Amino acid sequence: MPAMSSLSPGQTPPHGPQAPCDLERLDDKLGTLQALWHQHGDCYRVHSESRNADTWVINHPDWVKRVLVSNHRNYTKGIGIERVRVLLGNGLMASEGERWRRQRRMLQAAFHKRKIEAFFPVWFQQSTQLAAHWQQAAQSGVPLDVTAAVSEATLLAVLQSLFSDDFLRLQQEHGHNPFQLVSADSARDLQFAMKFRALGKLVQSVMDTRSRESRFPPDLLSHCMLARDKSSDEAMPDKLLIDEILTLIVAGHETTAAALNWVWYLLARYPEVCARVVNEARTLAMREAPAYSDLDAMIWIPRVIREALRLYPPGWLYTRRAVQEDHFGEHRIPAGSDVFICSYLLHRHPDFWEQPEAFLPERFSTQQVAARHRYAYIPFSAGPRHCIGESFAMTEMMIHLAVVAARVQPESIADVPLALETDVNLRPRDSLLLKLKVVD
Ligand code: HEM
Repeated sequence: MPAMSSLSPGQTPPHGPQAPCDLERLDDKLGTLQALWHQHGDCYRVHSESRNADTWVINHPDWVKRVLVSNHRNYTKGIGIERVRVLLGNGLMASEGERWRRQRRMLQAAFHKRKIEAFFPVWFQQSTQLAAHWQQAAQSGVPLDVTAAVSEATLLAVLQSLFSDDFLRLQQEHGHNPFQLVSADSARDLQFAMKFRALGKLVQSVMDTRSRESRFPPDLLSHCMLARDKSSDEAMPDKLLIDEILTLIVAGHETTAAALNWVWYLLARYPEVCARVVNEARTLAMREAPAYSDLDAMIWIPRVIREALRLYPPGWLYTRRAVQEDHFGEHRIPAGSDVFICSYLLHRHPDFWEQPEAFLPERFSTQQVAARHRYAYIPFSAGPRHCIGESFAMTEMMIHLAVVAARVQPESIADVPLALETDVNLRPRDSLLLKLKVVD
């Protein structure tokens, strides 16, 4: 076991030689981080021989706040970002500095609640179709591959929000969904990156058609095409615009798919919580013409989603690199140090969460949230680089759950934890198969 230094906020850690531990190369990164945390506390460093550099691992909300919020300018994205850049180019996820700030300003308004409201009808319709399929599966008695089903559903949701009816046209022209590989192929290696980047041509073709016809439906692609930089009044160059669209496809699909997986898994394990969700879902389903504003009345559905994101945050590990020297408590973090923040472990910190392993959606009541350290819960990150799609994702997932759980519910499953896969997002290693029953 590697030697580390550990400390709680305000304590000075012991200095000394660090044993080698290439965290980023481990097969079981999460298990190792968990064991090291129990052994060494909320802040420790490991030395990577291959990079000849130290990595600081922090698991306390005070330091999370320092890295992501109060001193965020001192941190760039860290280990693994080159791999993301191969896939997503210079889109928002992987860019830095002035380019990132400019792009973020140009994209921000597209994710405003008022804009997201426009997606309600199409997401509602898609979820209604999905619910009908799940109802058939329930009636047939054959277990449903929930992993595949939510992956496909979230891909369709993001594609329609990006391309509106142009997506349906592309689908007709190709005879299938030309973006299908994003959901069908779970590898995120170089081969996938090459196939995925080739989809940029399709995005360009839609852009060209829209420009030629001066037709800009109210979707994310139109927003990006029409956005102008405030200071220069310039549009995004096409190449960068395509990087942004490819980024939104991947960032908007994988995380939401993983989150919904965990929601259904937890509902199957906790039938009494599931009963509350079904009840709330039925209230919405009974409305004559459900509307976006109906989501405001929901209590359990958003809490269940937030609690699932606590136990299984899809973005389970944030990596950063210190540009200049920093300090955590009294400890000096030299310039160039890597920093890891593991939200999976932070969300289970016993100083901030009672019964951390239990699935208790009531933790997300207004009072309990207000009483908790703001940075003990970061499924969408925090600070200026927090997820731009948080409201988009929450709305999409709430509609999905409200519509589907009004029609079907999972039969309860044994209290056996699913094996985790941590390669990119936190996902179940094997597909989640659930037997469903029709809601009476
Ligand atoms: C449950 C769903 C989601 C989760 C858990 C999630 C989580 C996150 C996290 C943790 C980050 C920060 C990563 C880091 O700092 O290293 C992030 C960034 C980002 N997310 Fe999400 N995300 C979700 C859905 C979405 C959706 C639906 C979209 C778009 C349609 C989206 C687009 C982005 C983008 C573009 C960034 C980069 C933002 C920037 O650096 O300025 N995400 N997301």
